[in-house]
Amino acid sequence: MSVRQLAKEQPDSFSFKPEYAERAKRIIAKYPAGRQASAVMPLLDLAQRQEGWVTKPAIGVIAQMLNMASIRVLEVATFYTMFELHPVGKHHIQVCTNLPCQLRGSDAVVHACKEKLGIGLGERTADGQFSLMEVECAGACVNAPMAQIGDDYFEDVDATSMRKIIDALKRGEKPKAGPQNGRVHSAPLGNFTSLTDEPKPAPMQDMAAAKAAFEKAKADAAAKAAAPKT
Ligand code: FES
Repeated sequence: MSVRQLAKEQPDSFSFKPEYAERAKRIIAKYPAGRQASAVMPLLDLAQRQEGWVTKPAIGVIAQMLNMASIRVLEVATFYTMFELHPVGKHHIQVCTNLPCQLRGSDAVVHACKEKLGIGLGERTADGQFSLMEVECAGACVNAPMAQIGDDYFEDVDATSMRKIIDALKRGEKPKAGPQNGRVHSAPLGNFTSLTDEPKPAPMQDMAAAKAAFEKAKADAAAKAAAPKT
């Protein structure tokens, strides 16, 4: 993982477009008075959706809106890898190379992306259409290896399926997200290996017998309490 720093080249200014400003207002209003700083992550996300990445001027504007020091907003932006600190491609491919994904073949997936796009990790294609980076666990280890493109997760990928996904994006199509090997969500690909018995209904409790036992225990306790002490 590389050090996360703001891009050297920055735009001069930032402002939310009316539609985004309206959304920002609604987000801030969700938090109680004095707690507006809690809106920092959704607002950074909003700025990124508008601009494609998080710029230094955007950080300043968000800090002002939330009455926070700029450095506090910068800390959040640099900590979470979901915030892009450099311009990224229209299709930003983030391949997880953390241990479970690596054990399941993420090296081959990264290699396929590099080969197909002619760029390395942390780079963008000349036409600005694609960018590529590796990320730590994206929380889909059960479907490893995986890659996130925009808001979509592509799971159970390999070099072949990754090439097909890139080809589809190049053609302007929206490839189907989710597992690429045919399995449903994270269900086993083959037969089930556990919970294979027919489920049996839970035995019904005999409520009348339970009530009688309770009443008897109550009567026994009362009789014991009333018995003369010897
Ligand atoms: S290790 Fe890749 S998603 Fe968790």
